[in-house]
Amino acid sequence: MKMKTLNPALGLMATLIATVDAGLRFPCSTLTVQRLDPAAQPGALPSSHLHMIVGGNAFNATMEGDVASRATCTTCQMSEDFSNYWVANLFFKDPKNGTYHRVMPAPVQPLLGGSNGAQGGLTIYYTQNDLSKDNLKQNPVKSFVPGFRMTVGSPLETNKPHAGLSYQCITNGNRGTITSTFPTGKCDGGIFTTHHFPPCWDGKNLDSPDHQSHMYNTVRSEYFDPAPACPSSHPVRMPQVTFEVTWDTKPFNNLWNPSTDKNPFVWSFEGSSAGTHADYMFGWKGDALQRAMDKSECFYDGCGSIKKQAMSVANQCTVKDFVRENIDGWQKFLPGMGDAAHTGMKVKKEFKA
Ligand SMILES: *[C@@H]1O[C@H](CO)[C@@H](O)[C@H](O)[C@H]1NC(C)=O
Ligand SMILES: *[C@@H]1O[C@H](CO)[C@@H](O)[C@H](O)[C@H]1NC(C)=O
Repeated sequence: MKMKTLNPALGLMATLIATVDAGLRFPCSTLTVQRLDPAAQPGALPSSHLHMIVGGNAFNATMEGDVASRATCTTCQMSEDFSNYWVANLFFKDPKNGTYHRVMPAPVQPLLGGSNGAQGGLTIYYTQNDLSKDNLKQNPVKSFVPGFRMTVGSPLETNKPHAGLSYQCITNGNRGTITSTFPTGKCDGGIFTTHHFPPCWDGKNLDSPDHQSHMYNTVRSEYFDPAPACPSSHPVRMPQVTFEVTWDTKPFNNLWNPSTDKNPFVWSFEGSSAGTHADYMFGWKGDALQRAMDKSECFYDGCGSIKKQAMSVANQCTVKDFVRENIDGWQKFLPGMGDAAHTGMKVKKEFKA
């Protein structure tokens, strides 16, 4: 049987805990929601569309070198992890009047023990093989290195996202069927999205022009599958990174009618389901990630050699609002998508001064 994306409501967990050995899974609260994208649009202030970002406070429009040496706090539970992780923000577009409202990320709920006080944010995974076994000897993994970044998926994709990028409609506490499109009905528990990153590195480049071709994607399904061998072009096995988010769409459920309205949810680039994407900027301190990957004791939030912090402490980590635009309330345009005078140009001018 294939290991499915796990469901907190399932009793399946009890069995898994006993067999799982290697890999990390932990919550990171929202750090900031801004139009910045140091991986895909380095230097752009603001970037083209809005992102929800978690992780360390070295986050900035441009990020080079050793992120962990510049950060002083992180919104992640693993307190040696100053990486940044981000996704496009979801919006509700009112079918009656066409205005947009930001959808908030629900407190992340990594399995076991609820959200532990996380605010919004992402659940982050670093797995070695899959979710069910420790494959350390057969499949040793190498930590990412300072300066490393990558993206998965593309806002330009209009057909359908590739394997590993998916949606689920949370209903009655159940994550439900995995789809490549936005759920077509109302989801009382929100819309759950998953992004699996590629796990094979070329061993040389910290980045590439498309931010993807320095990695090779072995992901062929929506599940936490065992990683096959890496190809000779990209021979270095890295941790398999995955992000999960729950977008709290419930407040909008009484504003649309699935039988008469078209799907009202859009990504912050006015994008449909196919354009779902995610960005990763490595920032673990020293050899902390390598230590975690080398130990079979590390899974879920239990890992003796990796320092943790209470989410109440993680939640105090912030960055400044670099872009300073209003993203709340009902908006005529998505941030950055309106006429120039209304958004982008004005903001840029402010920052030149
Ligand atoms: C952000 O980056 C700019 C340009 O590199 C730098 O001058 C500034 O100090 C950074 N801000 C923060 C808060 O890190
Ligand atoms: C659009 O609809 C929403 C939801 O009913 C409402 O709150 C908002 O004020 C409306 N905006 C305009 C410009 O009519």
